[in-house]
Amino acid sequence: MKQLDIFTLFPEAFEWYRIQRHVQNAEREGLELRTLNYRDTTPLGAGQVDDAPYGGGAGMVLRVDVVDAALEQVYGDFRGGRRIVLLTPSGRTFDEELARELAAERELTLLCGRYEGVDDRVREHLATDAVSIGRYVISGGELAAMVVADAVVRKLPGSLGDAESAVEESFSEALDGAPEYPHYTRPPTYRGWEVPEVLLSGDHDRVREWRRERSRERARG
Ligand code: 6GU
Repeated sequence: MKQLDIFTLFPEAFEWYRIQRHVQNAEREGLELRTLNYRDTTPLGAGQVDDAPYGGGAGMVLRVDVVDAALEQVYGDFRGGRRIVLLTPSGRTFDEELARELAAERELTLLCGRYEGVDDRVREHLATDAVSIGRYVISGGELAAMVVADAVVRKLPGSLGDAESAVEESFSEALDGAPEYPHYTRPPTYRGWEVPEVLLSGDHDRVREWRRERSRERARG
């Protein structure tokens, strides 16, 4: 991926995320990560971005013209097959497979919603995908966008250091899509809680077999 754009009303929410080492590594390897504020390009007066819902009800809805103007400002009319992902609790549930799929895109755009929601014409006409991070509601798309961005960015070459290689991590092919095996470190005994003997044995074949088995066990739940 060469470019990851995140549209939001709260770009400052991403400051912590941007300084994470694996994100900075990916940037050094050529990723351009931008956060763009809908408010900077709103065609409405006084920085207005939302409005009361038609049909009545509580809360405010992010306007379609505001989102369109933001996309127009950055990309012009030609979106060139770029994936534009709206974060919404009613979208396709995000998982490792979708993370791999998005990481393979050259360019990716994430649209954060806010307040009660986003005018549905954004989903119908501007976004190519609608994605949810799980079956629960959080208060805005920013945390969801960070979850998606993080799962995607850590797949980019050079993002992770050697020590935290993504080869044998949870849900990877190396583990047949199963969760990762349990980890232990010193001390070998703590309050009578023992580290599995096999890990102290120095027998790498047995260690490998034990890890595969624990991983498969976790996959069964
Ligand atoms: Cl993308 N947004 C919100 N507000 N809640 C969610 C979500 C997204 N995915 C799961 N819950």
